[in-house]
Amino acid sequence: MDWTMKSIQYAPNAITGQVDSLGDEFSFEFNILAGNNVRFRLHEKTLLHPRYEAKFSIETLETAVYDHQKKDGLEIVTFGSSELLIAYAPFSFEFKVNGKSQIAFNKNGYFYYEPYRAESKIPEFAVVKEGEADEKLNEIKTKIGKDLGSESFGGKTDSKPRGASSIGFDITFPNSKHVFGIPEHATSYSLKSTRGSGAEYTEPYRLYNLDVFEYELDNPMALYGAVPFMLSHKVGSSAGFLWLNSAEMWIDVEKSTDPSVKTHWMAESGMVDLFFFLGPTQNGIFNSFTKITGRPQLPQQFATTYHQCRWNYNTEEDALEVDSNFDLYDIPYDVLWLDIEHTDGKRYFTWDKVKFPHPKEMQNKLANKGRKMITIIDPHIKKDDNYHVSKKAKELDIFVKNTDGSTFDGHCWPGDSNWIDYTNPKGREYWAEQFLYKNYEGSTPSLYTWNDMNEPSVFTGPEVTMPKDLLHYENVEHRDIHNTYGMLQHRSTFEGHLKRSDNKDRPFILSRAFFVGTQRYGAIWTGDNTGEWEHLSMSIPMLLSVSIAGITFCGADVGGFFLNPDAELLVRWYQLGALQPFFRAHAHIDTKRREPWLFGEPYTSLFREAVIRRYKLLPYIYTLFSEAHLTGNPVMRSMMQEFPDNELTFGMDDQYMFGQALLVKPVSKAGQKSVEVFLPQESIWYDYDTFELAKPKANLIEVETPLDKIPVFMRGGCIIPRKDRQRRSSQLMKKDPYTIIVALDSRLNASGSIYVDDGSSFEYQSGDYINSKFEFKDNTLSAKHLPLSTPMDVKGDFNVKIERIVIVGYSNEPAAIKNSNGKDLFFGTKKVGDCFTVTIKNPEVLIGDEWSIKFKGNSKL
Ligand code: NOJ
Repeated sequence: MDWTMKSIQYAPNAITGQVDSLGDEFSFEFNILAGNNVRFRLHEKTLLHPRYEAKFSIETLETAVYDHQKKDGLEIVTFGSSELLIAYAPFSFEFKVNGKSQIAFNKNGYFYYEPYRAESKIPEFAVVKEGEADEKLNEIKTKIGKDLGSESFGGKTDSKPRGASSIGFDITFPNSKHVFGIPEHATSYSLKSTRGSGAEYTEPYRLYNLDVFEYELDNPMALYGAVPFMLSHKVGSSAGFLWLNSAEMWIDVEKSTDPSVKTHWMAESGMVDLFFFLGPTQNGIFNSFTKITGRPQLPQQFATTYHQCRWNYNTEEDALEVDSNFDLYDIPYDVLWLDIEHTDGKRYFTWDKVKFPHPKEMQNKLANKGRKMITIIDPHIKKDDNYHVSKKAKELDIFVKNTDGSTFDGHCWPGDSNWIDYTNPKGREYWAEQFLYKNYEGSTPSLYTWNDMNEPSVFTGPEVTMPKDLLHYENVEHRDIHNTYGMLQHRSTFEGHLKRSDNKDRPFILSRAFFVGTQRYGAIWTGDNTGEWEHLSMSIPMLLSVSIAGITFCGADVGGFFLNPDAELLVRWYQLGALQPFFRAHAHIDTKRREPWLFGEPYTSLFREAVIRRYKLLPYIYTLFSEAHLTGNPVMRSMMQEFPDNELTFGMDDQYMFGQALLVKPVSKAGQKSVEVFLPQESIWYDYDTFELAKPKANLIEVETPLDKIPVFMRGGCIIPRKDRQRRSSQLMKKDPYTIIVALDSRLNASGSIYVDDGSSFEYQSGDYINSKFEFKDNTLSAKHLPLSTPMDVKGDFNVKIERIVIVGYSNEPAAIKNSNGKDLFFGTKKVGDCFTVTIKNPEVLIGDEWSIKFKGNSKL
């Protein structure tokens, strides 16, 4: 389609104007946003039906100042070090940062838009005959820009009463070879091409939240969640792009040798609502993205530990036995999960009275050991007038509707079901109220929630989901809101948790479906994976992709949901899962039981070690979550994020950084005796287990991997806070003293930080927390409050002792170590390889205080 800009007007908060194409008129609006970002929207002049705006995803929008001029026939808008260059005919625009082109819109002329039409008549030439490819259909659709009437697929018909309304355009990332993101797909982190010479896939990436049975790996097919956000990266700069649209979307990726990555975005309906993130750093983009779409929630401490799940723990006795076996086998854990079988006939918010007769007592038994329970609450509501939720929701008229206004019926776990319409404020409110203790009988303050099947999964629907022509609040079609449905359930559950605790307790909710902004409401997991080695490996790119799309609290079912992993695979998976953001073992109802003690030795000990490693690192991990909450920086990071100028890391997704300090490489094959690890030469590295300085050759090191070892390296220059005493749950560790590991870089410097609060409430928002920076410099280790902290007034009883400080990579034995008062501290040294590890026992300092410790003696570079 040929697009021409007819006019442009400049006002402080918006740049507006008119464009037209083939006689259709549109208005547009650019907003220059704070943080080097730009929003672009397009509106039809005469609108037959409203276009759906995915407004639930936006949290903050702040505009910034700009200048503008006309030069060489282009409109040029400047802000900070960036420029927006708008061309008149064909209408297109491009962003430059520091004079270099970063992203362009409609450079390839793919921009098309099907306005809603009053008539939907199919011209003769457009009738597709049997055997003709879909391509012809698409070509005709574009050409005539008109409705082709209803569509049938797999025996289901979409009546499409409003006709066609699709939108497409191209986005080019000049001088880039890699693009990332657009989760959720089971594919590599650096996205493979789907078009052009050497295309690796034959279909575009699809974003349409679906409940996919036994999903295939290395495939652009749609999965449970969708975030239409893409990142590109090259040495020196990154750029990000978001299409805020919750309809079904397809994205083609084409890599050209110029070099550039050309992408083609197509959505079935919705709006042109585009965000351009100009960085130029990855962290700057993650910060902007989560400022606009909402910061990741700060999780409760317990949520960051080990979770034990299975479909299903069958009875109260079964659940309590699993719980006490963790004590018997001396394995810490915090949360026991109950799947759908705990309910009375899949009626959520109820209990099977025979199998779970005393839910409160059961939760309290766990709570006495500092543990929590989680029950599953799905969005489908069993059709049953004797079920209070079904009855009331019907009365309130908050179910999703058919085109004729009647309530939509479909099948899911309970059989005949109806679906709550969470786009309806009344639906959200009713849902939230169900979490009040008085409404959810048998629930206690230590019970949290799991939202599953919220794509939504409809067993009898097209592609196991809702028909697109169903109607939501204010007659919005399901096709427009599909990808946001799960997030709205997640949000309503979150609001329910807040309500039940009078806004005092931080919610914890795991969701399977997700969309732009999900991070505000909790965690997601990658759904029904399989207990195979390839699925263990795939967890890395999948989690990296959701992490950069804002959803930093994410995990994959440890062990794999389907099939029966053998003990070796399960051990390797625990070792990896322990170093990923959300760490939960889960299994399908048809699988053999696989709790960590069932495999005997040496396996039980190996599971225990993996879990204990997680627990020791909780102070470090919680600090990472607080950073994600403040800045959107992912907990799990690609090698490229931490080493953005090292091109060798760009496509790398078989290893990653867990925060800034730890490099993790899984063992991903049966019987693998050793693993090659890439250690970027920008840093020095220490083996996390032995503290030995690594000696890579040309960035690579071979690490032996007996069953008790996966390669984990500490990056020189980092400081890691830990708690090394073993307890049954994280709550019982609250007052335990800290161990601080200082891994020196080649200049004998290091820095790190710690964030501590009560781990559960919102008191941190009124300053009840510790946030300190540790620094080792000039032979002095110091702790200082970070600016946002509350210096000298650390409230709460979490200001506990540091019991041990370990300096790794010291060049010789110090002669003396003195605290701030000049008092000698007791220490020991150990030669590890060419360096010394120096351990100060009882340095007599508290984690939340400001202090310094001096090392005497001639340590040199
Ligand atoms: C599908 C979920 O993905 C899975 O984790 C769960 O166990 C089953 N539904 C049963 O609720």
